[in-house]
This record gives sequence, C-alpha cells and structure tokens, in this order.
Amino acid sequence: MNGPFHHLTSIKGQVALVTGGTAGIGGACTERFAREGAIAIAIGRDTAKGTRLINRLEREGHEAYFFSCDCTQEKQVQNTSSQILEQWGYVDIICNIAGGWIEAPPIEKITIEALQHSFDWNVTSKFLITKALISSMKTRGYGRIVNMSSTTGRRGRVDAALQYSTMEAGLLGFTRALALQLAPHGITVNAIAPGTTRTPRAERHSEERLASTARSIPVQRLATIEEQAHAIWYLCTPGASFTTGAILDVNGGSWTG
Ligand SMILES: NC(=O)c1ccc[n+]([C@@H]2O[C@H](COP(=O)([O-])OP(=O)(O)OC[C@H]3O[C@@H](n4cnc5c(N)ncnc54)[C@H](OP(=O)(O)O)[C@@H]3O)[C@@H](O)[C@H]2O)c1
Repeated sequence: MNGPFHHLTSIKGQVALVTGGTAGIGGACTERFAREGAIAIAIGRDTAKGTRLINRLEREGHEAYFFSCDCTQEKQVQNTSSQILEQWGYVDIICNIAGGWIEAPPIEKITIEALQHSFDWNVTSKFLITKALISSMKTRGYGRIVNMSSTTGRRGRVDAALQYSTMEAGLLGFTRALALQLAPHGITVNAIAPGTTRTPRAERHSEERLASTARSIPVQRLATIEEQAHAIWYLCTPGASFTTGAILDVNGGSWTG
C-alpha cells in the first residue's frame, strides 16, 4: 500500500544508473535502488563481480542489470551509454560513485601521471557518463544526479592522498556549477561527502588503523555502506526537487562545516 508521501519518496520503475555500482558504497546503492523497485543498472570493470550482484538481486525478484565499462575511458562510456539509451531510452538517476585512491605519498613522490590518473578516476569518470546521458534527462525535464566526493574534499586529512583530496574538492565545484546549468531543466545535481565507510576498499587498511579512524569520529565508529546508500537515495527521490548544488556530509560528525 502506498503511503501519503509516496509521490515524494518512490523511485519505483525509474531507471537508476550507478557507476562503481558492483561493490562498496556503489554496490549498496544498486541494491537499495533495486529494492525500491527501480530498474537498477550497475557499471563496473569486473564482469564476474557485477554478474554475481545482479544474479543475486534477480534471484530475489528485483530488476537489475550490469554493464562492464571503465568509466575513465571515453569510448567505453559512449558505447555503454548508447546501449542503455537503446534499451530504456533515458535514465532518471545517475549516481557517479566510481573513483578512489590507493596510496598517499608526499608531494615529492607524486608523479604527473599519478595526478592525471587520480583526475581521470575521480573527475573524468563522472564528467564522461553525465555528458553522455544528459540529453535524455533534459528532453524529459527530469533527473537526479549525485556525485561522490568525500570528507577529504571538505577538510585536510594527514593520512589521505593529496591528489585524491584535490580531486574530491574539485568535484564540489563540478557539482555546484552543473547544478546551476541544469536547474532550469528539472534536474538536480548534488554531491555526497562520506567519512570513512567499511567497504572492500577501506578494508585494505589494517583493523588497527580502521579502529583508530573510528575513535577519531565523533560517533565513534565507521559508516556502513547502507547509511551512505540511504543518504544517496534521499537525493535521488522525486521529493528532493528543491535540493540542488548541495553537499551532503555523511561523516558521523567528523566535519561540520
Ligand atoms: N570507503 C570510504 O571510506 C569512502 C569515503 C569517502 C568517499 N569514498 C568514495 O566512494 C567511492 C566508492 O568507494 P568504495 O570504498 O565503496 O570503493 P570500492 O569498495 O573499491 O568499490 C568501488 C566500486 O567501483 C568500481 N570501479 C572502480 N573504478 C571504476 C572505473 N574506473 N570504472 C567503473 N567502475 C569502477 C569497482 O568495481 P570494479 O573494480 O569491478 O571496476 C567497485 O564496484 C569512491 O569514489 C571513493 O572515493 C569512499
């Protein structure tokens, strides 16, 4: 039965795309969207990982699809976007989650190639898929775009990669500028800035380091992927129509602005 706020909260039947949607925060978004009754489309590079998630969601009776694509590669993004538009004609939701960092060397050790790689992984990936699909949103006069940033883009952190912090801060500018461009078209563009969240990527760090990070967070623990997906889901709902150009901090109080 639909409640009185159904028109504000329901994304049932909407076409919801998640880059980096096969694991971690993106995987939780794919799962959340599918469970909300959306047509959930996950993009990732590893076909085995993507297929496993989609098969599980399908077995549970949800509608979910996987496309193998490296979001930093323009040709691959164009091909994947064309296939999506051929099959569904449009997307309602784009969650730009793919990105990350691996090592945090001092500035003298950061090569120009490493800086460029971080730019491509975190910024180009979001730019390319948005550019490829935006016309379909504009034509329908509706869309929800969420860009993944990080607490690291909000404040300095000694243990985070300098190149990554640079890109995450840049994404806030990308989000705000795109929000203004698209506001007259019924399309909202927001960013989410998570604090440390337990994901396969975060679990590459030692338990000791994760415990020390948890102690530094006012709520005294790391975030769960479901908490991040819940915040992202809100930004993707029809009722979030007056929220655009915003940065949603989901960090347990570790940066309060
Ligand atoms: N975890 C945290 O504490 C945290 C905090 C703040 C922000 N974030 C941001 O949240 C995002 C997700 O982080 P996570 O920790 O959930 O990462 P994760 O556990 O490593 O998962 C990353 C997902 O993205 C996919 N992916 C990575 N690069 C891709 C590319 N070039 N093209 C397409 N898919 C790609 C991966 O699949 P494949 O490997 O198969 O491609 C996987 O599905 C990142 O942008 C990260 O910077 C994370």
